[in-house]
Amino acid sequence: MKTVLLTGGLGFIGSHIAVNLIESDYKVIIADDLSNSKIETLDKIEKITGKSPIFYQVDVCERKLLEKTFSENRIDSVVHLAGYKSVAESTQEPIKYYRNNLISTLTVLEEMQKYKIAQFVFSSSATVYGSENPVPYKEDMKIGNCTNPYGHTKLISEEIARDVAKANPYISVMMLRYFNPVGAHSSGLIGEEPQGEPSNLMPYICKVASGEYEYLSVFGNDYPTKDGTGVRDYIHVEDLAEGHVKALEYLKNNPGSHIFNLGTGQGYSVLEILEAFEKANNVKISYRIEPRRPGDLSEFYADPSKANEVLDWRAERTVEDMCRDSWNYVLTNSKTDKF
Ligand code: UFG
Repeated sequence: MKTVLLTGGLGFIGSHIAVNLIESDYKVIIADDLSNSKIETLDKIEKITGKSPIFYQVDVCERKLLEKTFSENRIDSVVHLAGYKSVAESTQEPIKYYRNNLISTLTVLEEMQKYKIAQFVFSSSATVYGSENPVPYKEDMKIGNCTNPYGHTKLISEEIARDVAKANPYISVMMLRYFNPVGAHSSGLIGEEPQGEPSNLMPYICKVASGEYEYLSVFGNDYPTKDGTGVRDYIHVEDLAEGHVKALEYLKNNPGSHIFNLGTGQGYSVLEILEAFEKANNVKISYRIEPRRPGDLSEFYADPSKANEVLDWRAERTVEDMCRDSWNYVLTNSKTDKF
């Protein structure tokens, strides 16, 4: 049985990857500082899979503390997700983002060199394609011109990982460029729990549906898109998680540096998502058209054909599944711990 260290493994995406890895017979070790996640998620992973990951509460930027994770286990691969992820916050506090997101990547790779660990999978983002590429985005496009510091930290982390792989041929690296992850586990046990007011579309819609907010602000209806609202490639978090298992399998036999888009290849507008959510869950979502949000692009979606062909991976779940599972997570958890 192969052992995977999952940094940030109790977060929204990490917890789904943990479930998928365990279900695919990997032994999972999670390193997470709980800064944007909850310890109860560990029990929920166990409830779903029947197995509990080994857990280290650690900030992966702290090399001495992270070292314990490596010295106490025989790790085969690292899936690195730990990092700050708010685009808006990154524009207000760039140093916080550069420090945390780059030092965490450097520290993990340093430990991998020290312990001669062969596989590194990095949680990158479609944001690295910047603002000038035409859609759909393809892996061989020139990257850069990101609209925010968060995006730059992903871009620079990718470069760091590629350089480390070049200098250490026994290390293979894979950048997975996520599009817009939404949805939740079909059990309703794990899902997205933004702290404070959500900035992303799906969590905000859920809060309007639950009555916490009166309406959704739709940021702009004058984009050159099908209905004037922003278009994105929403991907179900369970499909995204399955992509990581495929990535690890591929890396075992294919050394070097690799890049894959994880998206569906389909763009949906804000109004289309609203409508799909209402239909899937039989709820009404009030909205108001507001000015564009600074830094937003009008439209982006993936060309996922490389991952489809090379990794034999495909996003299978529909927008209806995404809307239903996002809302199911809110309903399941409001019954248990909110009211
Ligand atoms: N939107 C609204 N109202 C809201 C929130 C969002 O109209 O309250 C719109 C946005 O303008 C955009 C779309 O919904 O058109 C999606 O916005 P999100 O904030 O959900 O997602 P983004 O595409 O802006 O950003 C996401 C991730 C980033 C990542 C980026 C590129 O949050 O981490 O995709 O992959 F960098």
